[in-house]
Amino acid sequence: MKKLAVLVSGGGSNLQSIIDSTKNGILKNIAEVVVVISNNPSAYGLERAKKENIKAVALDYKNMDKQDYDDKMYNLIKESGADIICLAGYLKKISDKIVKEYKSKILNIHPALLPKFGGKGMYGHFVHEAVVKAKETKSGPTVHYVDENYDTGSIILQKEVPVYETDSPEDVAKRVLVQEHIVFPQAIKKVIENLK
Ligand code: GAR
Repeated sequence: MKKLAVLVSGGGSNLQSIIDSTKNGILKNIAEVVVVISNNPSAYGLERAKKENIKAVALDYKNMDKQDYDDKMYNLIKESGADIICLAGYLKKISDKIVKEYKSKILNIHPALLPKFGGKGMYGHFVHEAVVKAKETKSGPTVHYVDENYDTGSIILQKEVPVYETDSPEDVAKRVLVQEHIVFPQAIKKVIENLK
């Protein structure tokens, strides 16, 4: 059984899909979530973790010194014994120390078909707005390994969905999110299989 640390900044619907798949889905008897950490004390993802009796920790990024934040994050992950770190709507950069130590063991989900529509500042609704503005005919989630930069690590899995001319960014976001919830657990499974 591999241990997962999941980092969230917001609603945590991807966290929920990971938890659900460890309980009743493709990660059953393969992985368990041991800690959920957020930079945002009011992230609903923390509530989701508590409801599942999973350790939930808020590190209040805005009111902390950056080095202190990075050190506490590192210690929490180490103490949890996590084998894999999942960034599930986590919008901060991971420290280089963690990236180095957990090389090929940190996964991020991005709501577009990387390398398109990635990089600093490209998250959540900004991504879907850019996709609609560029008149793309397809979009979809990408799960990739995390390196020192934003959204540049090698791709583990992608899933395409259509984008229609009449779509609003919200329409695209909804269609992509449905696939995020499927593809993230699949990518975790793939990474675990490669660890063996
Ligand atoms: C997801 O759509 C995820 O792909 C996106 O944030 C949302 C979080 O939703 N992540 C990024 O944009 C990262 N660049 P959730 O909190 O409900 O899982």
